[in-house]
Amino acid sequence: MISRETIEEILMRTDIQSLVGQYVTLKRAGSNLRGLCPFHSEKSPSFTVYPADNSFYCFGCGVGGDQISFAMRMEHLDYPDAIEFLAKRAGITIVETDNKRYSNEPKYDKARFYQMNVDAARFFNNYLFSSDPEARAALSYFTEKRQLTIATIKHFGLGFAPNSFDTFTRHMLAKGYTRDELVAAYLCRKHDEKGHVYDAFRNRVMFPVIDVAGNVIAFGGRVMDDSKPKYLNSSDTPVFKKSRNLFALNFAKQTCQDEIVLCEGYMDVIAMHAAGITNSVATLGTAITSEQARVLSRYTKRVIISYDADEAGRKAAQRALGLLEEVGLEVSVLSVPGAKDPDEYIKTFGVEKFKEVISGAKSKFDYKLDGVLGRYDISLPQDRIDALGEVEKMISQVYSAAERDVYIREVAAKFSVDFSSIRSDVDRIREKNAQKYKRDESKRVKESTVGYFDTVNPDYIKAPAVAKNEENVLGLLLLYPDHRKRVFTEGLLDADCFVTGLNKRVFEFLASAFASGDDHLVSINEVFTQDEVGRIMKMKTARLELSNDADSLMVSISSLKRSVENHSSGQTKTMDELARIIQRKQQENK
Ligand code: UTP
Ligand code: MN
Repeated sequence: MISRETIEEILMRTDIQSLVGQYVTLKRAGSNLRGLCPFHSEKSPSFTVYPADNSFYCFGCGVGGDQISFAMRMEHLDYPDAIEFLAKRAGITIVETDNKRYSNEPKYDKARFYQMNVDAARFFNNYLFSSDPEARAALSYFTEKRQLTIATIKHFGLGFAPNSFDTFTRHMLAKGYTRDELVAAYLCRKHDEKGHVYDAFRNRVMFPVIDVAGNVIAFGGRVMDDSKPKYLNSSDTPVFKKSRNLFALNFAKQTCQDEIVLCEGYMDVIAMHAAGITNSVATLGTAITSEQARVLSRYTKRVIISYDADEAGRKAAQRALGLLEEVGLEVSVLSVPGAKDPDEYIKTFGVEKFKEVISGAKSKFDYKLDGVLGRYDISLPQDRIDALGEVEKMISQVYSAAERDVYIREVAAKFSVDFSSIRSDVDRIREKNAQKYKRDESKRVKESTVGYFDTVNPDYIKAPAVAKNEENVLGLLLLYPDHRKRVFTEGLLDADCFVTGLNKRVFEFLASAFASGDDHLVSINEVFTQDEVGRIMKMKTARLELSNDADSLMVSISSLKRSVENHSSGQTKTMDELARIIQRKQQENK
């Protein structure tokens, strides 16, 4: 755990204006700043930065929050990584206070571990280019056997760990790292009980693993012959968690907005990057985990699984497919005929051929089609009609007419049905959908004005009048610590005054922050999702221009209480009833 003091210091030392200014051109607008939102595309600026309380809010898309929220969204980081990112930027060293995983072990200084790994990577890299004959053999393993250029070797910071008991260890001890630290970083191994240690990686070519913030966090080392184990990888260390990092994501993050190629091996990725396919990453010697899938979903929309051609690779691809779809990614699977893995494929057939394989990757449509065909036996007439119906529905959802025709042609052949009859079916379905969409759209517009379709606070729909009052009060409390102090010391409100789920949680959060003396609400990004934080910012900004003295607080509180009473005494039953009817209608229309 990172202490509250540390987070407070990070927030204090991170000026929102200069943080956002690194990514967005900001112009003055009164006491605030405005720019084009980096999170949705817009022509006129609705992204607003409030220097006074170090926050931001976009009136266009509803994202908002503090410096941590901004780093999370902008750099695709989760909460702890965003804190680390900002700490590094502000030059603050994070010392973990109570990390469960290491609670029985000494506390390690992460910054020192990062430095230790950089020093190790430099050592291996320098050694690779040294005059030691074994190093020369290693270099020619890379350049000749694996056909890597010197530029690629340098780009990935590849290296060589000497064939020696403790050459590396002595180098690191001389730099001032302790034996304990070296063992904890998985760079050395314990030799005896007296505390002597030796090199963990010996006579191996080295692949440093670099995180998205640019820190060296781990290593993989490969033998240069057929001995076993082929690769040796760092286990988890205080700065490395194998289950959530991906090799080369530090490079791929620049080019993977649309799609990313997921491989099994270090060498596959290196070959791809060297050939210009820089949106590729690999898992680290294990099957992909759900954590890694979640990380990928923050960076890209579509994953092309490009595993080895063997049975193990196919099985792993099947498993990965499930995990990746679970987090909402679009997935396709590549096969590399005639080679054991993508690396070999590129070497044998060239990168252009490989790119063809990528673009011909089983498309989403083919995948779905396979799924439908798997459920029916199209040699039976009824099955064939049902399957065709499903497939026509799928095709009708494709936007491009040309693309639809491609699919129709494919399906016509597969089902031995006339092209034009499928096309007229599809057109009819599209016409029907368009009419339904128009109806839904006008309904949506009507409903959204009374707060229906609220995915962030789904309870809003059940008690819109109360919810409005709740947000009004919360806005005041969020904005002014003095109001919080008054409300909580005098007990002016309790959680029962809040009816909708999100707003109740916000109130409880404020209460517990107050109880623990946390005036800056530092853990807001830990407690709430980013969408919720955006909503919370909306509550704040809504109150920003309105009067905020003690009187208006009291007025807001009493009107909240009145609306809650009305709600529970049944005056709003009609509203609830209406909501239920609408919900039922929505279900029916699905
Ligand atoms: P592969 O055996 O396919 O290796 O394992 P590779 O990457 O294609 O390497 P080359 O081309 O033979 O040199 C795929 C990945 O599985 C992990 C490594 O991350 C490797 O890149 N692995 C493999 C291990 O961690 N340990 C092993 O002993 C073998
Ligand atoms: Mn392989």
